[in-house]
Amino acid sequence: MKVLLTGATGYIGRRLKQELLKDANISLRVFVRNKQALDHIPKGSLEIVEGSSFDTLKLDEAMKDIDVAYYLIHSLTSENYAKLDHQSAQNFRDAAIKAGVKKIIYLGGLGVVDENISKHLLSRIETGEALSLYKDKIDVIWFRAGVIIGSGSASFEIIRNLIQKLPVLITPKWVRVRAQPIGIDDIISYLSAAKEHSISGTHIVDIGSEILSYGEMMRQCAEVMGLKRLIIPVPFLSIGLSSYWLNIFTPVPFQVARSLIDGLKSEVVIQNDNAKKLFANITPISFKKSVEKALFEAEQNQVISRWSDSGADVWKIDHKDSIAEAVFIDEQIIQIKESEAQAVFDVFCSIGGENGWFAYDLLWEIRGFIDKLFGGVGLSRGRRSQTTLRKGDSLDFWKVVDIVEGKRLLLFAQMKLPGKAWLEFRIDKDKLIQRAYFLPSGVLGRLYWFSLLVLHYFVFRDMINSIYKKAKEHK
Ligand SMILES: NC(=O)c1ccc[n+]([C@@H]2O[C@H](COP(=O)([O-])OP(=O)(O)OC[C@H]3O[C@@H](n4cnc5c(N)ncnc54)[C@H](OP(=O)(O)O)[C@@H]3O)[C@@H](O)[C@H]2O)c1
Repeated sequence: MKVLLTGATGYIGRRLKQELLKDANISLRVFVRNKQALDHIPKGSLEIVEGSSFDTLKLDEAMKDIDVAYYLIHSLTSENYAKLDHQSAQNFRDAAIKAGVKKIIYLGGLGVVDENISKHLLSRIETGEALSLYKDKIDVIWFRAGVIIGSGSASFEIIRNLIQKLPVLITPKWVRVRAQPIGIDDIISYLSAAKEHSISGTHIVDIGSEILSYGEMMRQCAEVMGLKRLIIPVPFLSIGLSSYWLNIFTPVPFQVARSLIDGLKSEVVIQNDNAKKLFANITPISFKKSVEKALFEAEQNQVISRWSDSGADVWKIDHKDSIAEAVFIDEQIIQIKESEAQAVFDVFCSIGGENGWFAYDLLWEIRGFIDKLFGGVGLSRGRRSQTTLRKGDSLDFWKVVDIVEGKRLLLFAQMKLPGKAWLEFRIDKDKLIQRAYFLPSGVLGRLYWFSLLVLHYFVFRDMINSIYKKAKEHK
């Protein structure tokens, strides 16, 4: 069976890709906007077609000889995502029909169309409708899931952070809304099993575990984490306030928080029993079990994907060219012994997250908090893994855009800035070079850089010294 996977750099797609790669009976092709964002993949195990779903020629190339095509594309971060997602689904469907693909498998959101429906859910429904418009020409299995619980999922990180950080939770009305969460491993089981299913026409399959209110999910999560928390519900719902609250206390930025909270106005429960009928051998695990698994994976540094993984905007930039145009550069160089190079590399690659920024951590925290106040991502995204890094990883308010084993780490700033910024660590034989680049936009950008000159002087100087000191200690 020849399978096409889209969204392979996203939260669900990365995990599904790993699952599909285990199956010796399928030949897997991925369709990605930038192959740099894929994890390291053994040569020959995977075909890659680079392109966007708005490029119909590339879609034709990707669909050639395909039997089953997964549609896991999602562009929530764009302003006009509803229009884009609809167009993208139409292009995908048309290319699949043209190429004679037998089946499309899509995962959308759970929920019904009513006066409270969120813009995001409506767009996910319109996407499913576009994919399944020609029922006689192509089969479609359209899964619908609500809250996904798994290491690195946005919903789980929100619940976990609120529970971890706040001993008393004053919770708005939405915590009483009922939902039907599902563990990420069950999602992957359903998606993977669907490729074998011989059905005709379109089948909407709602998936989920037990029905719980968000308040109950918080209580159960606290129980699993062994924490005593006081949850005080209040009878009003303020979407704006709740979104700011989540933005400050959890890793998700304002826009993501807002779209999630917006979806909490109405119930998100299963509307059909197709999962039991069509996938009788899959029984979703309980919410508590999914939380246990998610916590375990995070503790063991085994998080395969995170909600913040995808990031086309980051790859749209030609970092080499843009860095060359940087107006301001803070360069620090220290002499190292060549024999220390690997230890130095390991130390600078361990930067961020629980390991901190090696100097003036409080200043980094304050900068992260200011970023959060402006709706940015802040520092709380942390690291996917405390021990490994890959291209595309989010790292506090940075994104890893280049990593060359033993030589270089390049981070691109995703905080709110009047310009573009990079932080680079490089080993050049017996030198450790650390550079902060800034490409300001307009006068504001220049003022920003000059106002931070003194702080930067101390922060960057101490950062490089501490990296080297740590490397010598570890060697
Ligand atoms: N995650 C959840 O909690 C959850 C819950 C319920 C349902 N779902 C559904 O599951 C599906 C996948 O969600 P996700 O969370 O995995 O999304 P995600 O992490 O945001 O990933 C989206 C993927 O789409 C790709 N993409 C975006 N625009 C594209 C384009 N024009 N052409 C090609 N690729 C494009 C992105 O690639 P880049 O890396 O290049 O940006 C990324 O790989 C969605 O339909 C979503 O509604 C998710």
